[in-house]
Amino acid sequence: MTKVYNFSAGPAVLPEAVLQEAAAEMLDYQGCGMSVMEMSHRSSAFKGIIDQAEKDLRDLVGIPENYRVLFLQGGGSTQFAMVPMNLMRGIAVGGADGSVGHADYIVTGTWSKKALAEAQRFGDARCIATSVDTNFDRVPDMANIQVNADADYVYICMNETVNGNVLRELPDTQGKPLVADMSSCFLSEPIDVERYGLIFAGAQKNVGPAGVTIVIVREDLIPEGDLPGVPTMMQYRTHADAGSLYNTPPCYAIYICGKVFKWLKSQGGLAGMQKTNQDKAALLYDYLDKSNLFRGFVRPQDRSLMNVTFTAGDELDAAFVAEAKARGFENLKGHRSVGGLRASIYNAMPVEGVQALVEFMREFEAHHSCSSQSI
Ligand SMILES: Cc1ncc(COP(=O)(O)O)c(C=O)c1O
Repeated sequence: MTKVYNFSAGPAVLPEAVLQEAAAEMLDYQGCGMSVMEMSHRSSAFKGIIDQAEKDLRDLVGIPENYRVLFLQGGGSTQFAMVPMNLMRGIAVGGADGSVGHADYIVTGTWSKKALAEAQRFGDARCIATSVDTNFDRVPDMANIQVNADADYVYICMNETVNGNVLRELPDTQGKPLVADMSSCFLSEPIDVERYGLIFAGAQKNVGPAGVTIVIVREDLIPEGDLPGVPTMMQYRTHADAGSLYNTPPCYAIYICGKVFKWLKSQGGLAGMQKTNQDKAALLYDYLDKSNLFRGFVRPQDRSLMNVTFTAGDELDAAFVAEAKARGFENLKGHRSVGGLRASIYNAMPVEGVQALVEFMREFEAHHSCSSQSI
């Protein structure tokens, strides 16, 4: 078997132990005589899988009773629409009285920018702070955030996957519900759920395969009754009332997520994972800070622990990606919209993978510094 270290931003590396367990159960899940992929989502075996997954997630994160956990489809991008469709009050009342909803967005990178544009289709979504002027090499100072009195919610993207920055402090929302896209940092560290009204995360980065999106939403924010004009599948109420089984859910993806939750518990839970993630990121950032060739994109205090964005300079980035690939380091190219390099070092990336990458970067630097000196 070819062993590579996969630094993909998502779909991304999964814990090997989880993949091995899934492989062992592939043809016969616990004596059912069939694969989880073949199972009815109404079967008692699948009910056991989804209930256990929710229970383990609740234990792991410490999700309070008054929050609902939903396993949905459509990725983070669908949440960009579902959030305003359900949480903007103008929509919840059907705009019948001509009212529109309002929301405040903090734009710190590619994904919050997209989320804002999507929300603008549904109501008065405004950018109240952004670091676009410096190409998202930082996040705005949370102490200066001014939330509008009429905002139905305040929106953040906790970890900007493309740009490599993270919010370490939360804005003071003046009591408005805080909505957080945690797609690329979910379960990488402890979460104080009560500080949020709604959290969502596409699973394919830190939690499981593509296909399932996890939503944790405070019960009182799920609109009661039907939302006129909003498709049934786009209403949180539909999925909350049906225990995420209104229609066929992404069964196999939920099953793998359940295994990842158990794996996370075995790694010391979210606090244990946070420590490992800090150590891994420090290896890479310490090297970047000392390097004469490589340079990180994000200022130190706002650097993501999950997505490390950097460059060796326009001339050398492509060579780095190619040489790295030949050595078994996959997917180090930066997002196509920003270029450069990116190493995504999610929960399942072993520390050995980061150590090996740093070692390779050292070699690459030595080699390329020599060749530039000899020119
Ligand atoms: C932070 C963040 N939000 C949203 C998305 C969009 O997710 P999806 O591709 O699942 O729609 C991504 C995708 O990479 C992301 O990184």
